[in-house]
Amino acid sequence: MEESFRFKEPTETLLSEERVFRPLPEIVVEANISPKDYKKALEKGQRDLEGFWEEAAEKLEWFKKWDRVLDESHAPFYRWFVGAKCNIVYNALDRHIKSFRKNKVAIIWQGEPLGEKKKLTYYELYRRVNQFASVLKSLGLKKGDRVAIYMPNLLQTAIAMLGCAKIGVIHTVIHSGFSAIALKKRVNDAKARVIVTSDGAYWNGKIINLKKAVDEAIIECPSVEHVIVVKRTGEPIDMSDGRYLWWDDLMEGASEECETEILDAEHPLYILYTSGTTGEPKGVLHVHGGYMVGVYRTLKWVFDLKETDIYWCAADIGWVTGHSCLLYGPLLCGATTLMYEGHPLCPKADRLWQIVDKFGVNILYTAPTTIRMLMRFGAELPRRHHLKTLRLLGTVGEPINPEAWLWYYENVGRERCPIMDTWWQTETGMFMITPFPISLLKPGSVAKPFPAIHVEIVDREGNPIPQGKGGFLVIKRPWPAMFRTLWGDPDGYKKYWEIIPGNVYTTGDVARKDEDGYFWIQGRADDIMKIAGHCIGTADVENAFFSHPAVAEAACISIPDSIKGEVAKVFVVLKKGYKPTDELDRELRQYVQKELGPIAIIKSIEFVKNIPKTSSGKIMRRVLKSKELGLDPGDLTTLAD
Ligand code: WT7
Repeated sequence: MEESFRFKEPTETLLSEERVFRPLPEIVVEANISPKDYKKALEKGQRDLEGFWEEAAEKLEWFKKWDRVLDESHAPFYRWFVGAKCNIVYNALDRHIKSFRKNKVAIIWQGEPLGEKKKLTYYELYRRVNQFASVLKSLGLKKGDRVAIYMPNLLQTAIAMLGCAKIGVIHTVIHSGFSAIALKKRVNDAKARVIVTSDGAYWNGKIINLKKAVDEAIIECPSVEHVIVVKRTGEPIDMSDGRYLWWDDLMEGASEECETEILDAEHPLYILYTSGTTGEPKGVLHVHGGYMVGVYRTLKWVFDLKETDIYWCAADIGWVTGHSCLLYGPLLCGATTLMYEGHPLCPKADRLWQIVDKFGVNILYTAPTTIRMLMRFGAELPRRHHLKTLRLLGTVGEPINPEAWLWYYENVGRERCPIMDTWWQTETGMFMITPFPISLLKPGSVAKPFPAIHVEIVDREGNPIPQGKGGFLVIKRPWPAMFRTLWGDPDGYKKYWEIIPGNVYTTGDVARKDEDGYFWIQGRADDIMKIAGHCIGTADVENAFFSHPAVAEAACISIPDSIKGEVAKVFVVLKKGYKPTDELDRELRQYVQKELGPIAIIKSIEFVKNIPKTSSGKIMRRVLKSKELGLDPGDLTTLAD
């Protein structure tokens, strides 16, 4: 990580976006938090950090309240709600069973094959979770043990996660798109005693043989005592190894009653491995107490969850978005959360819109990469659907280019739904910089820090960078849903706080703040180029390409140049109907050079069919770059397809 922090100077801003969008009055009037309360919250968050989070914590139930809200004595190993006893599952399920929500639908599950759907009420989910927790107990699992879950978006995935948490077992969900090698690495790092998986997975009309990857992996996973297999696709699979057990067999005999374990607020909830676009996987650790408070508070306010809403986070459960925003967050809020098993293009490129209409989805949360992918198929597809139940949209994962933002706003949100562009990370656990439903929106900006989140843009030495210029995005004060450590690597955790002086958390992103206090993310620090002395974000260059009608996708890397230090090379995927000609190459160059100004020197453009991405849709510039320069690309286990 350190090597990418070689830039001392602020980055340049090449593109300026001046459009501003106001939320409709009815959204503002009905918002969970009014403009006046938002202002008050911002003010309180600045003045009284602990008081702010204490107020949020009071909305949830605790077996025992805290002695103090925040303990900074072992910083950066912060502790929240010290002395408190709780369990996130108590707040996500047990609490609702005692209320009017008992028979409310908790999860709507939509399979990839058309027509396969299931619904579970809070009570039904509660009973299934109890059963699974009983299964784990009968296999001898105890508080603090680890269970790896290698499954796509299935009801059983949610049940397994909650079942673990219920008895204090730590889950680690491993994205079902990962290879056997990636699985093995993570299972061994966590020393998981059990793996939960399925025979197969539906993905874009094909069947992925998950169980085969497990067979391969567990040869070298000595900690694994049992593999619990969910029957999903009905593949013929080999169950002869004594470690394999069928989910259904175990669940059938298991008790539907199981006590919720009373846990310390700092008891680990899950490990989630993140590698993003660089290096070896890091086991990000989250805990019950602070995480539940942070996720509950942010989701309820930002997505404005109402009792009757159908809320859909179209992410995979294997990402932090799936953890905080598909499962834990909505259940903490007592909402109905929709889980889709499959691919957005299956059977056709209007699947998301079809699902929105089918269930009357009110809130839809997805990623820029999905939006850009769907844009390639044209606006006719969303236009063919009503989409009239939608009230709010969201995006996360990478900077959204203004063209994609506008497409989403106009064709999906029909100029009526504000877009919550939420900036956060696996490590942060919850939204950190985000608009509210009542905010003015600027396409491509993540708006302002959430109340009580103290953010600054600084140089390598920690000095504030003047407004309008880009620099390192750091967080100066702790927040409750923050990760507590890296599993087995406390020094790795400490590093985040040591890169830039001043005991600040270095996010690894580069951003700038405009004159209204709005933040613009320019990308990861590793993605900043240094062209003729100017620091330029790859995202700015890519956005200029995106705004040309022929471009569907663009990925920019820097390559060494003897005169300029570095210059940009851009890989471009064209939209349907455009041909990669010399003429288009010339036209694109002229066009983007005009957009970006002379300091962004584009050395070359290469037309390609695909851009390498992680399974979460992030461009792997490292892979493009190493290929370009003939270097070792490093760990490729997170590469999609
Ligand atoms: C990195 C974290 C947290 C959900 C999924 C990603 C980038 C995330 C945004 C956004 C611009 C964003 C950042 C961040 N990122 N959200 N709204 N605008 N960039 O989690 O895999 O831990 O990645 O994703 O670069 O550091 P993650």
